[in-house]
Amino acid sequence: MSNWLARFVSEPDVTINDIPGPSTLENLFIHLDFIRDQFRTYRGIDEAYGPVSQFQLGPFCLVLVTDPDVIEEVLLRRADAFDKDTVTKELSVLLGRGLLLSEDDVWRRQRKMVAPSLQRRQIARYADVMVSETERMMADWEDGETRDIERDITMLALRIVVQALFSLDVSARLHEVTEAVDDAMSYLDERRHSPWRLTPDWLPNPRERQFDRAKSKLDSIIYDLIASRREGEPGDDLLYQLIAATDEGGDRMTDEQLRDEVITLFLAGHETTGLNLTYTWYLLAEHPRVAERLREEVDRVLGGGRAGVEDVSDLAYTEAVIRESLRLYSPAWSVGREATETVELEDWTIPEGAQVLMPQVLVHRDERWYDDPEAFRPERWLETPEDERPRFAYFPFGGGPRICVGNHFARMETILVVATLARHFTFENVSERELDTYASVTQRPETSVELRVSRREEAPAFG
Ligand code: HEM
Repeated sequence: MSNWLARFVSEPDVTINDIPGPSTLENLFIHLDFIRDQFRTYRGIDEAYGPVSQFQLGPFCLVLVTDPDVIEEVLLRRADAFDKDTVTKELSVLLGRGLLLSEDDVWRRQRKMVAPSLQRRQIARYADVMVSETERMMADWEDGETRDIERDITMLALRIVVQALFSLDVSARLHEVTEAVDDAMSYLDERRHSPWRLTPDWLPNPRERQFDRAKSKLDSIIYDLIASRREGEPGDDLLYQLIAATDEGGDRMTDEQLRDEVITLFLAGHETTGLNLTYTWYLLAEHPRVAERLREEVDRVLGGGRAGVEDVSDLAYTEAVIRESLRLYSPAWSVGREATETVELEDWTIPEGAQVLMPQVLVHRDERWYDDPEAFRPERWLETPEDERPRFAYFPFGGGPRICVGNHFARMETILVVATLARHFTFENVSERELDTYASVTQRPETSVELRVSRREEAPAFG
């Protein structure tokens, strides 16, 4: 039987009897709702069946977990009994066996080789790139104009990660890279929702050919960069450090492994930070008093100078603003796993093959862990000691052994970019539209985020 027919007629991969969830008929309605609004579907199931529930989606049995203690079991204590989930694994058509998708020994070896270059001490050298790229972006802004902030900031995050990865000036090829990344990512995004997903594999799909072209272009650029970097002088860039890294046996990465790691860092490292910064500025524009307090802190800490790595730990309120933005609009909206064996977790038995979904979009807005959970209140991060909440009531970077390897990079980047922007500009929301988001690979805004940017009178010249 061909794959696509099997999708309609096969029995579910697994059934779970002791976990509450909807009936077969209700599951049918869930499919319809899911196509329209995934977040609403998950919220509805969680409210109806509690913090560990299950439902059927096509051939998959999904276990939805919003209980932080069970999440801790899956991501940390019993991490060995889970792999990445099926939907996440689909990204391998682009990311290959990079850190995000590899498993077991391959992952352990790669993580040991990649993680040292992204440690706090190692990344301090990228602070200047983060600040100067932000200044370069603002130099194009006219006082009082309305900007598509998501577009500007995603491009900024891309430039920052490209500079950190390659340290060579790749601006000549940046346009090509951006275009290829956009094409490849929009194909992967569409594939999640489009009916093409259900068509037979042999049917020609024009979008797939477009994806293949975008991927070949990206590959050829990355292999070129690897080749020229192998020939060049030692440097501070991540690519050079990956080329030089050795495993326990003294072996280095092949070109193919380097390609997979570079493209993973590239994609995982810019879309998420770009979205976090976009949501942060949207929220600041909506909450002028918070923006005012942030500006006061930035002016006091920077004392008229440029932001630098030494300022990061003093910008406590700025960091609280970013944390609160990550709580309300987590760019990674869910962490997914597949059980590789039958696992007993607290009162539940999760059978082998079940897809476990742990959505930050629900847990981060749960009133059991947050007072007034829908409100944007950065102060909560300065008032409530962290250990008053369960550890996994807040997990924008995941947790356990597979915690985001770029989390220090992201923290430093978002603090320095927010401080640099606040030093020069104020932002105002000129649109009547409420911010609505949808579930793609990341949590994205439904429509463009347009903000009016006004130069602060007292702002110093760039540089
Ligand atoms: C606000 C920004 C970011 C957010 C919210 C974020 C979120 C996440 C999450 C939730 C995971 C865990 C996925 C899982 O367990 O299945 C993850 C993994 C990962 N992230 Fe990030 N990330 C961010 C920034 C970055 C940056 C800047 C980089 C690279 C420079 C990066 C590279 C990676 C990689 C390579 C992994 C896979 C790690 C592994 O499995 O060993 N991320 N990220």
